[in-house]
Order: sequence, then structure tokens, then C-alpha cells
Amino acid sequence: MAFKERVFSGVQPTGNLHLGNYLGAIVNFVKLQATYECVYCVVDMHAITVWQDPAELKKSIREVTAAFLAAGIDPKKHIVFNQSQVSEHAELAWVFNCVARLGWLNRMTQFKEKAGKDRENASVGLYAYPNLMAADILIYRATHVPIGEDQRQHLELTRDIAQKFNNDFKPQIDAAGFPDGFFPLAEGLMSGPATRVMSLRDGSKKMSKSDPSDYSRIALSDDADAIAQKIKKAKTDPEPLPSEEKGLEGRPEADNLVGIFAALAGRSRADVLGEYGGAQFSTFKAALIDLAVAKLSPITSEMNRLTADPGHIDAVLADGSARAKVLAAETMAHVKDIVGFVRG
Ligand code: TRP
Repeated sequence: MAFKERVFSGVQPTGNLHLGNYLGAIVNFVKLQATYECVYCVVDMHAITVWQDPAELKKSIREVTAAFLAAGIDPKKHIVFNQSQVSEHAELAWVFNCVARLGWLNRMTQFKEKAGKDRENASVGLYAYPNLMAADILIYRATHVPIGEDQRQHLELTRDIAQKFNNDFKPQIDAAGFPDGFFPLAEGLMSGPATRVMSLRDGSKKMSKSDPSDYSRIALSDDADAIAQKIKKAKTDPEPLPSEEKGLEGRPEADNLVGIFAALAGRSRADVLGEYGGAQFSTFKAALIDLAVAKLSPITSEMNRLTADPGHIDAVLADGSARAKVLAAETMAHVKDIVGFVRG
């Protein structure tokens, strides 16, 4: 393997962290620490591609950091930082603005969704967002990227950018002593049973921070009472639980609750149905409430403890940023030489 194995991933600080962020991303980040050198980033520069209230943004950056730490990410063994403190992300993104083609960005489905009907009024940053994401990953020459399904297309674009850069500058890259190319073609690492946690009110929609109903999601700040209320009110159907996974087909709400149970318990859906097949939802929900409270309340209280001391969180981010900067600066110096910039 020509490239050193390294994991990079990012979470946007846009408020309302919920169970979907936790089970879909953060739990996986925690696991990967055992196998890889990991770099985890609070992507504040991505957040401002849509309007963010400045005071709320600061709070959200600290909240995501607290969630990382409370969930068990070790900021000493690995790197936890916020994107805007390492200016090389923006520098490399500019170079990538000049590598990526308009046609490539025009195909990005997430831009089309986020920009909506009034595309003329979307920020230029929202359009160039995938180039910044490619820079996040490639400034560390990361080889593995844990992401949800919704980011798959952005990761493909990252590979396209890496490949085009490697091709466009092949003579310079060879001369600089990188016979396998300068940037790796990073692979996605999709996570376990509940990569997609759905709304508790509508099993066909993703659990989302922007859903107007508070009952659609379990926030990482919810206390035991709130968790219990929300699971009690979660939409179901009139049938008891099936005993096999194929019985969940066409029953999105049942599928979602079983998936959440499985992910929280670290078990498979089949295993959970082996135990609860034939049970009424009232029984299953009671067990799910106990499990969710047992797993989430230690995290919530640790997050509360951490966010009560923003000075400590800021120090963790400053330390992580300084260590990230060392790696990023090394990549950027090579990029400048390869592209033909003069540097001191
Ligand atoms: N775009 C990602 C999301 O919204 C966040 C992100 C930014 C990211 N940079 C990244 C994820 C780099 C993985 C790698 O979820």
C-alpha cells in the first residue's frame, strides 16, 4: 500500500444533534479508532454555505466537539479540530476549484436539493461545497472516509479530483518522488445497521435537524423523560413485530424502530426480531426506551458537563488544530511545488 492508511470525516455544526448523527456517524467514528489513525473535523466552513447565526454557530461547534468526546473519541490519540482553524483546507479548496469542472459540480444532487427552486440565490459556497470537502479529505491524504449514503456522490467527486490532479501534474508528481500519484483515491466506509435513522413520525423520511416536529427526532440533549415520551409517541402500525427481517418490508416505521434497537444494542436486526418477533409494540417500545435511556443518558450528561466548560473544549480544538496544521502544511507545501507556485 503506497499510502499510509488514515481516516478523515467531518460533521457540520448546524445545531440539534440527534440520534441519526450519533448512530449514523459518531458510533462508527469511535469504532474506527481501534484500526486507523483518525482525523475528525467539525466542518464550520461547510456550515456557512447556508446562513448561520454567529452566536449559534459557536455554540454548535462546541456541541459537536462535546458529542465526539462524550461518545468516546480520544482527542489525544487521534485528532479532533474545527476546519476554520486550519487555513490549508481553504487553500487546497481553491486549487481544487481550478481542477474540478463545472460539469462535475452541475451533477451534484445535494446542491440541487439544498438550493431548491431559487438557485440564483444560493451561495457560491454551497455550489463549491464538494470541492472543499475534497480538500478536507485530501489535505490529510486520507484513504478511508466514513460517510452516510447521502455523501457517496461527494466522495466520488473527491476521487475524480484526486485522479485529475494526479494526471494533470504527473511529471511534477513523479519528479517530486510520488510514483503512485500524490493523492490517494479515498474509499468510503459505510456504517452498520442504522446508517439511516428515519423520522419517528414518518418512516419514509430521514431523521433530520430541520424537521419542524420535535417528536420526529431524539436529540442528544434529550433527558430520559423526553426520550421515553418520543418513543411512546413514535408512529407504528397495528401488527405485532415479525419474527424475520423480511417481515419488515413495507413497514418503514417498524423497520426503523428495530434498526434503532439493533444499532443501540450492537446486535443485528435478525437477532432483535428473534427475541421480539410476535411481540406488540407496547412491549417492544418499553424495551427500546430502557435501552435508549441506558445508552444515551451517559452521553448526554457527559456532553452537558463538557459544554459547561467551553474553555476546555476550545483548548481541545486548539490542540487538535495545531496538530492537524502540521500534517496539512506538509501536503500544501508539496501541492504548491507541484502546481508551480513560488514559496519562501
Ligand atoms: N458533507 C458532509 C456532511 O454534510 C460533511 C463533511 C465535510 C465531510 N467534509 C467532509 C464528511 C469530509 C466526510 C469527509 O455530512
